[in-house]
Formats: sequence, structure tokens, C-alpha cells
Amino acid sequence: MQDVHTLTKELIIQWNSFFAKRTELMTRSPIRELLKFTTQPEVISFAGGLPAPELFPVERIRQATNTVQKPCNIVPLKECRHLRSFLAQRLSNETLRVKPDNILIVTGSQQALDLIARIFVNEHDRVILENPTYLGMLQTLKPYDLTYLPVTTDADGMRIEALPELLRQQPKLMYVVPTYQNPQGTTLIKERRLNLINMLEPYPVPLVEDNPYSELCYTGEIEPSLMELDAHSLGIRELNGRVMYTSTFSKILSPGLRVGWIAAPLPVIDKLVAVKQGTDLHTSTFVQYIINEVVRDGFLESHIATLRTTYRQRRDIMLAAMEHYFPQEVSWSHPAGGLFLMVYMPQYLDAEELLQEALAYKVAFVPGVDFHVGNTGHNTFRLNFSHESPPMIEEGMKRLGQLLKNAVQQKDLLLRV
Ligand SMILES: Cc1ncc(COP(=O)(O)O)c(C=O)c1O
Repeated sequence: MQDVHTLTKELIIQWNSFFAKRTELMTRSPIRELLKFTTQPEVISFAGGLPAPELFPVERIRQATNTVQKPCNIVPLKECRHLRSFLAQRLSNETLRVKPDNILIVTGSQQALDLIARIFVNEHDRVILENPTYLGMLQTLKPYDLTYLPVTTDADGMRIEALPELLRQQPKLMYVVPTYQNPQGTTLIKERRLNLINMLEPYPVPLVEDNPYSELCYTGEIEPSLMELDAHSLGIRELNGRVMYTSTFSKILSPGLRVGWIAAPLPVIDKLVAVKQGTDLHTSTFVQYIINEVVRDGFLESHIATLRTTYRQRRDIMLAAMEHYFPQEVSWSHPAGGLFLMVYMPQYLDAEELLQEALAYKVAFVPGVDFHVGNTGHNTFRLNFSHESPPMIEEGMKRLGQLLKNAVQQKDLLLRV
């Protein structure tokens, strides 16, 4: 692709002067830009949030596609109610009953976040979120020029003692990734979940629970969802509280299928449908039917079990290699599930600078700064442990460990001089 500045000189129309005001605030995802460099085969990449490619259920998807292609199945291709029922059933338990009508299938949970932002936030509103948080949500929220009310985090998730003060500032929305968070891999512990729901009681703020990773659990048990705890605290069995829940097939099946879902109270679903119709009419029904074929008869459960075994092993290999190769000045999170962990370097080191060096050594990660608000997190970076094979994880950690040791030693020398 040509450089934007060269292009601008050649243009007859100066497009920048025509873009809407909100468009000025839109920038391309730094992750996507970075991933371009990391797709070269010789680069060991811990950058993306990608599954292990060898675990894609290719044959099952092929068979499902053949079944769906049969004329009697493909005509007419209306929305796939079976898939909504399947998801509603999976989300329901003895505390909460989710109905198919509470579910909207979306084009990846990234679209869920976009649609939710569109129906809830006005320019300059206040939004509560964890710091750091999922950078795709920050990208979605950017054009609204919001005031963020960030909540700091520790190994047990959000430090909720800060919440009452933030809730008093009349936020329009609260966004949380409570389980095996992206980027840190940390989980909001049950005690804090319960306190969080109690704290929200006097404040009518809608809560987005973004939950793409909870199925990928390697240690301990999966915590109850905020959606479930909210219903329980309200004494209701229906999905009719303050939580909108979103998840995706991207992490448990394949990210390229672009199918996710929102579970929410009916008035919210109604508005989401309206705005989605104006965006893309509906998510590919063909793909919905394929997924419906793939997941049935217990396949999804057994596939998730395979993913858990493989990713648990990769997480453990990465953690052990970090222990072995990384200098003592550096620390990191210890995720019980998900796809990521986060590295915390001393404040005097900058992860973007380290990445330049790392790329020269053919190893990639994502600097943490883009997951943070308030210009913080320069000394952090995110590592993905699901995508690379065990020998590559070992080799990648060795290279990164050496780079980190060099960086710490150089700073040490400079400080002494
Ligand atoms: C927390 C979180 N939410 C949403 C998404 C978007 O997922 P998708 O649009 O692929 O369903 C991701 C992807 O990495 C994520 O980590």
C-alpha cells in the first residue's frame, strides 16, 4: 500500500477536510498494523490473539458446509434460530434463564461492542472501564471523545474499592472483561464480583460484560458471570437486569468465521437489532448455519476440552521459560485461563522501544500502552501463549529474556554514569 502522505499530495480532493469531525478521532488498530510484520514465517509471534492453527476443526467445518449447501437447507436462508436456542441454553443455569429472544447474533463480538456503544453513548459521556482494558473497545469508543473513568487492577481483577466514587460521577456505561482478561489474563475474583454487583445497586448504570475467554479455563473453576450474579441479586430468573453480555466463537472455534453474540434484556435487543439492520442487515446466515452444524452433538464441548489441554500446556511452558530466562527486575501475570499474560518491566523501560529490537531478533509482542488509558502502561507488554508451538515458545522466551537483560543492564550502566 502507498504511503498516506505521498497519496495526499497527488489527490485532487483533500479528503481530510471532508471527513466528519468524529472521523478525525478514528485511527486504524495498532494491533492490525503490527500484525502485518509478524505474519512472516520466520517471526515468532506472541502478538495476536490467535488460536493454535493446527487445532482448527477443518474437517468438521468442511462436512458442515457440505450439509448446509444442500438446497433444502439453504433455501430460504432465514436467521438461524437453532443457533440462538443453542446459545441461550448454554448461558442458562439454575439461577438464570436466557431465552433465544434475548440473543442477537453479531459479526464477531467486536461488532457487539460497536453496536452497544452506538445505542448508549453520546459524545463526551463518562464510561467506567478497567485500566488496562481490551484495546478493541478503546478503538470503538474513540470517536465519541469520552471521559474515561479508569479503575486500576491487580492480580484479582478490578480494584473495586475505587468504584463508589466513580459511580457518583454519573457514568453512561461500565465495561468489564472479568474473566481471563485481555490483556492481562487476570480474573475478577468471586468476592469482588459480588461486591461489584452490590455497589451498583443504587446506580442505574448499564454494565457490559465482555466474556470471550471464560471457556478457556486451565486452573481452578470458572467464576459465575456478572450477568448471573446480577439476576440473582435482583431476585429474578430472567435476563432482565443491568448486564449486557457478549461472547464469540472466535476463541473456541475460529476467528475468521466472524460470529459472536450478545445476550441482553429485550428492550436492548430491540434497539440493537435496529442499529444492526442499518449496519449490515444481519450476520451471514450461511455461516450461522455452518456453525450450528459444527457445534451440535457435543462437538463444541469436546473441542473446547482439546483447546484447554493444549493451551494449558503452552501457558505452563511459557511461564516456566519466563522464570528461567527473564531478569528478576521483570514480573508478569499468572493467568488461570484465556490466551494472554502481561509483562511488567521496570518503569524506566519502554515496551515500544523494546519491540523495535525484538523485531530485529524476529520475535513479536504487543506493547501495553494501547490497552491503557491516561498515557500509562509504557513499561508493559502482552504475550499470547496459544498460537506458537512449545519449542517456539521456549525459543521466543529465550530471545526476549536476553533482550530484557540487555535493556536492564544498559539502563543500569547509564544510571551509574
Ligand atoms: C475482550 C475481547 N472482546 C472482544 C474481542 C473481539 O472478538 P471477535 O470480534 O473476534 O469476536 C476480543 C478479541 O480479541 C477480545 O479480546
